[in-house]
Amino acid sequence: MDLKSFISIVPDFPEEGISFKDITTLLQNGDALKYAVDQFAHMAKDLQIDIILGPEARGFIFGTAVAYALGAGFVPLRKAGKLPRETISESYSLEYGKDSLEIHHDAIQKGQRVLIVDDLLATGGTLSTSIKLVEKLQGTVEGVFTLIELMNLNGRENLKGYNVQSLITYPY
Ligand code: PRP
Ligand code: MG
Repeated sequence: MDLKSFISIVPDFPEEGISFKDITTLLQNGDALKYAVDQFAHMAKDLQIDIILGPEARGFIFGTAVAYALGAGFVPLRKAGKLPRETISESYSLEYGKDSLEIHHDAIQKGQRVLIVDDLLATGGTLSTSIKLVEKLQGTVEGVFTLIELMNLNGRENLKGYNVQSLITYPY
């Protein structure tokens, strides 16, 4: 299946010069959504994953579905101030803006095998922050999977040494 054909390109959103990759047109198609989740689950099948980690908000969508497909647990990484119990946090810069991500202090046990799933690899800020939080809790990052990768931003450079895989690439 050509997953790319289900992505909508929105020029100059949310700022001039950004070519926004809108995944909602993929999500609303049952066959495309199932295919994408099945691809992630297939790529993860030999990794013995205990926990899927998904960054708020779009990482929740694919992350939970992949967790279900693998029979693994799901851990949300949330933006500042959303998690109710004790957290650890890391701040990071986005393609446009700055934010911080938090995880519950007891969300991952030492040695648990973690797969990080998100919709998009742009600068890699979100995913490298996600990796830091997993490693602070002494989990091991077995994979970093995204639906889309924007090649011009070189996000992979920030994720060196990890098993980074994307289903669709765009030059920018
Ligand atoms: C978007 C996207 C990725 C991230 C990629 O999230 O969903 O998580 O940017 O960019 P990066 O590689 O430069 O970090 P965003 O924080 O915009 O918001 P959302 O997921 O809550 O919609
Ligand atoms: Mg996101």
